[in-house]
Amino acid sequence: MRVLGIESSCDETGVAVYDSEKGLLGHVLYSQIKLHAEYGGVVPELASRDHIRKTIPLINKVLNESGMELSDIDGVAFTAGPGLVGALLVGSSIGRSLAWTLKKPAISVHHMEGHLLAPLLEDNPPEFPFLALLVSGGHTMLIKVAAVGEYELLGDTLDDAVGEAFDKTAKIMGLPYPGGPELARLALSGCDGVYKFPRPMTDRPGLDFSFSGLKTFALNTYNKSDKTSQDKANVAYAFQEAVVETLAIKCRRGLKQTGLSRLVIAGGVSANTRLRERLAELVEKEGGEIFYPRLEFCTDNGAMIAFAGCLRIAAGQRDSTTIEARPRWKLEDLDALK
Ligand code: KG4
Ligand code: ZN
Repeated sequence: MRVLGIESSCDETGVAVYDSEKGLLGHVLYSQIKLHAEYGGVVPELASRDHIRKTIPLINKVLNESGMELSDIDGVAFTAGPGLVGALLVGSSIGRSLAWTLKKPAISVHHMEGHLLAPLLEDNPPEFPFLALLVSGGHTMLIKVAAVGEYELLGDTLDDAVGEAFDKTAKIMGLPYPGGPELARLALSGCDGVYKFPRPMTDRPGLDFSFSGLKTFALNTYNKSDKTSQDKANVAYAFQEAVVETLAIKCRRGLKQTGLSRLVIAGGVSANTRLRERLAELVEKEGGEIFYPRLEFCTDNGAMIAFAGCLRIAAGQRDSTTIEARPRWKLEDLDALK
């Protein structure tokens, strides 16, 4: 079975085709970074308009590149939420209409399920059950994953998501949008031991997170410094260490609490090298295994949507003909695969 996947929940248009037997047949991505850079963040209306311009050409491109025609597609998957409502409506409308025209099944995909399952696209995929740390621009969640669609939320952020905290801290220090990767790059030239940031919520039980305080701490620390480029790098370093160590403490706690040994990290922030290093070290010490997607599938992409959609269509799930966007959609509300 071949499923076309469309991702348009935020500032990336991604399209891919996944074949249940042959794997990923092709994927293309268009990033709107340049469009939003001058505003220092995503402008929802501009995002929607750009998805409208790009989605159909990208569908044609991925089909051409993988030597296929629309008639070779057995189903269409699209991100229906969570995300920006206008942006989601573009992918949902195009995907749903295309499926209707082709008389093929359509399926709404939850963006975070896409991220969560992205490591299963790799050669050595994790077996179920596993603990998943989902870290993106909008979410920070620890989830016990029993199987596809069987998700138990163990920990969530009370305020900013990790990616959001990275982006806001980067903005405070005048780094260009999107700030997360820029801040991580700057941290490479930071020195250890100059600043010590708190590890929020690690001194109390539970698996929830809070990251907005770290951003304020970074602002105050930076303002009190001489604001040299080395000061900036030192703040970036201390901020990243605090985030990474906080996530590591909660992951260790989550693994202990659930008795699981496999840890999956996914979502945009899982591209962070320091986070991967630190969590790999932790899991190795505990005698477990760590899994993450290749770098290009950490951030938003169409491949993860085609893959998650293919699993669900193959299991017999289908959408009605209603075109729907679900900007707020809980991962725990998804159906298990029968
Ligand atoms: O998954 P994603 O592409 O979009 C959402 O679903 O939100 O995640 C984007 C987030 C942004 O906040 C971005 O700054 C962050 O992931 N990010 C990083 C890195 N690469 C992307 N944060 C820290 N270090 C990175 N290397
Ligand atoms: Zn995402």
